[in-house]
Amino acid sequence: RDMYSFDISQLGFVLTEPLMDLPEHYQIWMEIAHNICHLINTHQLRSVVQKRLPKALAVPFTLVSRKLDLPAILTYSDCVLANWRLKDPAGDLELKNMDLILNFPGNESCRGFLLVSWIVEKAAVCGLKGILAVRMAMEEHDETGLLKGLNEIAASLKQMKKEFNLMHEHVNPTEFFGTLRIFFSGWKDNPQLPNGLVYEGVNDEPVYLSGCSAAQSSAVQSFDAILGVQHEEKSAAFLRRMRLYMPPGHKQLIETLCAPPRLRDLVVPSPPLHQAYNACVSALEDLRTFHLCVVAKFIIIPGGQARATAGRCPLSGGGSGLGLDSTGTGGSNPMLFLKSVRDATHNALIPCP
Ligand code: HEM
Ligand code: ALA
Repeated sequence: RDMYSFDISQLGFVLTEPLMDLPEHYQIWMEIAHNICHLINTHQLRSVVQKRLPKALAVPFTLVSRKLDLPAILTYSDCVLANWRLKDPAGDLELKNMDLILNFPGNESCRGFLLVSWIVEKAAVCGLKGILAVRMAMEEHDETGLLKGLNEIAASLKQMKKEFNLMHEHVNPTEFFGTLRIFFSGWKDNPQLPNGLVYEGVNDEPVYLSGCSAAQSSAVQSFDAILGVQHEEKSAAFLRRMRLYMPPGHKQLIETLCAPPRLRDLVVPSPPLHQAYNACVSALEDLRTFHLCVVAKFIIIPGGQARATAGRCPLSGGGSGLGLDSTGTGGSNPMLFLKSVRDATHNALIPCP
């Protein structure tokens, strides 16, 4: 299969022209979606939705999700890859000229979190081109092409980490932890919603689905796949499960990259390739170490503060309120999981002979 046919574009995994609106028939959905922050803030969302939904939402949402081969829940591709627009269509692809199509509560932190994720995703585009160049060079036994592709991958991973820094400027930890991430919650491995969710009109049995998480981004898993990073069993199972939440073409790209031939076997005999390969692994490890610090700042610290406040105030529900939990929206124990994937990346380094 041609590597360019995995639903990737000049913008990598990002959708180039996301749909801004739905046909007339769905205007009621769009009205709710465009007003969602106001409806949540004024505590009207539940009653508005209850009037015409949930059956009228659950059934078409399930049908369209089946068609797209995606689970019927908000995913990373919904809120990042396909949720952006340019303020000035003739202007540049940069943060100040960008906006979300649909917002969630959390004000500037929502915009910042989703658009900075977008910018990081865009920084992965050169790396994705590098991955495709590496695969091509592997087929053609082209050592120069291989070296060039590996250098592109390392440069892209460094750029991703650099852009990731923007999170500190654009996202406020309290707003992120206490407001925004509640709306990314799922109903699998979520202590707040342990019994799943019944999709009325679809099935009487509850459905269990993970919440929206950048763990559903195909970029990092594509780098793991080309570099042959082997994760510890439980983490690998979680990452494989996250692929079910990716657009099918992107998931297939990762699976194709996991299949032989193995890049690691090819780089060992050549010192320059060996060095370039290790530079990619180190850059991916650095990105994951950086990500761990971000998670400490945006989830672990505010989580600890929220629990401490709840402990002091008996009226606050003793720590059981939404937003006080440090479980990842994808359902993982973040620090355990993220340290394990970072350490597995480190272990992929090939020692000098
Ligand atoms: C996984 C939080 C930004 C990429 C995770 C997980 C958490 C988390 C808690 C664990 C999985 C889960 O249960 O959800 C955050 C926070 C962020 C942030 C608080 C910013 C405030 C990003 C960005 C990216 C990213 C911008 C880049 C696209 C990943 C990846 C994983 C992950 C790839 C899976 C683990 C891995 O492969 O290293 N994130 N994340 N995250 N996140 Fe983030
Ligand atoms: N995955 C991110 C979290 O758990 C959004 O907060």
